Amino acid sequence: MGRLAGKVCVVTGAAGGIGGESARRFREEGATVVGVDLDDVADVDLSIACDVADEQSVRSMYEEATARFGRLDVLFNNAGISPDDDGSVLDTTLEGWQRVQDVNLRSVFLCCKYGIPRLLEAGGGSVINTASFVAVMGAATSQISYTASKGAVLALTRELGVEFARRGVRVNALCPGPVDTPLLRELYAADPAQAARRMVHLPMGRFAAAREIANAALFLASDESSYITASTFLVDGGLSGAYVTPT
Ligand SMILES: NC(=O)c1ccc[n+]([C@@H]2O[C@H](COP(=O)([O-])OP(=O)(O)OC[C@H]3O[C@@H](n4cnc5c(N)ncnc54)[C@H](O)[C@@H]3O)[C@@H](O)[C@H]2O)c1
Repeated sequence: MGRLAGKVCVVTGAAGGIGGESARRFREEGATVVGVDLDDVADVDLSIACDVADEQSVRSMYEEATARFGRLDVLFNNAGISPDDDGSVLDTTLEGWQRVQDVNLRSVFLCCKYGIPRLLEAGGGSVINTASFVAVMGAATSQISYTASKGAVLALTRELGVEFARRGVRVNALCPGPVDTPLLRELYAADPAQAARRMVHLPMGRFAAAREIANAALFLASDESSYITASTFLVDGGLSGAYVTPT
């Protein structure tokens, strides 16, 4: 029997790197997966196109998922953006700031506000909100809107974990370190010096594979993490623990 056998899981950002890999892993472990993204998602049990920053769309998305499967057990609130024009506070426009807060933070608020009642109806469940290692440490090469949004996701998640702890709903913040994406790979192939500068900060000397983040999400989704809630769940190859790294 798979570790998520019988569980209905909603994964947002399911067309992306971490979300796609998580949807695959969850299904391998027996879950029924509702894949949510701006456009249709392949290889899930139900695909729902939904802008998770929009209140009515989020409500309708949960209504459709619950109508189809009768219950929801896991919410993986993972959709997020990291726009190129995000940077120093000195250069960031108010519009750019707001867009990042809407997609990264308001979406998590909405997905919890309308999703947690579904888990309560099912008698409990697990919520995983994707924050980032930048929620716990600062970067000199700032992406101020992104960092602030992820810090807020972490704080919101911790508080929800406490609020619902006695009602069977666990809420944890998954904080990935840098993930090996096609975009990053291209960028660093073109600029090896920049790649080397980044690697200095990573004790393991490499980025995470999306599957390594998905495996952590799987653990938090499953009953194997039954005593874990309100946690800052870092999956960062030691990045946040390092002052100097091995050469
Ligand atoms: N990749 C990394 O290095 C890294 C590190 C730490 C945290 N994260 C976080 O992990 C999460 C997933 O990142 P990823 O690397 O898989 O990114 P990705 O860009 O590959 O996937 C994100 C997905 O979210 C979807 N999305 C964006 N806005 C949406 C909206 N309004 N409504 C619905 N879907 C929307 C996109 O279409 C995309 O499919 C994000 O929250 C990101 O901030 C990523």
